[in-house]
Amino acid sequence: MILMEDIIREGHPALRQRAEEVTFPLSAEDKQLAADLHEYVVNSQDDEISEKYGLRAGIGLAAPQVNRSKRIFALHIESDEEKGISLIAINPRIVSHSVEKTYLSTGEGCLSVDRDVEGYVPRYARITVKAFDTEGKEYKKRLKGLPAIAFQHELDHLNGVMFYDHIDPRDPYKPIPDATPFER
Ligand code: NI
Repeated sequence: MILMEDIIREGHPALRQRAEEVTFPLSAEDKQLAADLHEYVVNSQDDEISEKYGLRAGIGLAAPQVNRSKRIFALHIESDEEKGISLIAINPRIVSHSVEKTYLSTGEGCLSVDRDVEGYVPRYARITVKAFDTEGKEYKKRLKGLPAIAFQHELDHLNGVMFYDHIDPRDPYKPIPDATPFER
């Protein structure tokens, strides 16, 4: 089970590396890693479990954040108004995206960043993605809103990119062209 002490924080060099492609069939280790990442995001949103284990709530967690250089991440978003999402993405990629951008009006956060970082992080408003599941089956999804934003945040982790790399420190709330804000 992944705990907060297993999550590496900004400044750790592993967060800046490009993670390695995963090969199929998955090794037992990779399968466990994928399951553990997904378990963390689910548990971290459960009041009782998160309090018991001291988990900070998160909607996504990528393998490099637990110091494993693998192209794997998990997302779990429960939402009343729009469709939620719960997935494991292996060797994920964006196959197409909208011209329109979006950004979280409250800014982004990250389990590897123990501070509030102000500013807008530009993301594509809609993306079509392909990834593999743990059985090695490729799937395709169209995402928008928070799932699309979270997918791009996690995909960045696999490429050594942190969300604040997208923010201009001299003008963190600079208007983003062609963007509609997303209110959480
Ligand atoms: Ni993150």
